[in-house]
Amino acid sequence: MATLKSPKSKLFYTLILFLSLQAKVLCSIYQVGDLDAWGLPTSSNSKVYTNWANYHELKIGDSLFFLYPPSQDSVIQVTKDSYDSCNIKDPILLMNNGNSLFNITKPGNYYFTSGVDGHCGKAQKLHISVYGNGSFVDDSPASGPAASAPSYPTVFGSIPVQAASVSPSLEIPVLMAAAAGVLLPLLLM
Ligand SMILES: *[C@@H]1O[C@H](CO)[C@@H](O)[C@H](O)[C@H]1NC(C)=O
Ligand SMILES: *[C@@H]1O[C@H](CO)[C@@H](O)[C@H](O)[C@H]1NC(C)=O
Repeated sequence: MATLKSPKSKLFYTLILFLSLQAKVLCSIYQVGDLDAWGLPTSSNSKVYTNWANYHELKIGDSLFFLYPPSQDSVIQVTKDSYDSCNIKDPILLMNNGNSLFNITKPGNYYFTSGVDGHCGKAQKLHISVYGNGSFVDDSPASGPAASAPSYPTVFGSIPVQAASVSPSLEIPVLMAAAAGVLLPLLLM
């Protein structure tokens, strides 16, 4: 049992507080990987970040929460190329305070990994896709290995268009009912 005095518990309750505050404005903070800490995946759960990304639909206004001991890890946002090749030299953004919030403000693809040498190669990396206004903007340059993210269309696909495709079929019964409403009194006259 963790005691309330441990730093980890404090962080945990801070997070809960954050979550409840955020819930009021309908944006969410997601703790990356649903793990105690952002760190190297364990051998029994080596795809934790890939799986996590596949089962979380992130939207504009949401934030990613990376929690980790700052002496041991960090978070960098990188380009797709750097993500694929595990180049940690020129990150777009470096976060290393142990309590890092990444705020999603635009649709697109986001790539993160650890700033610690060797961690990227051990699958401590996260790719998320964020949709905006019903249409997805893919701002990553087209390249071969990029096509290997087959789960996204099935997880996210077709949700935005569903409402639009329902209405045409609804109109038919409505028209028929209206026609019947007009015809019936005529027949009764
Ligand atoms: C995200 O927003 C929080 C709260 O407004 C802020 O503390 C944090 O620095 C932001 N993160 C980045 C990467 O700008
Ligand atoms: C979404 O649509 C609104 C209104 O059309 C626009 O102001 C906003 O910039 C759009 N957001 C994105 C992320 O495209």
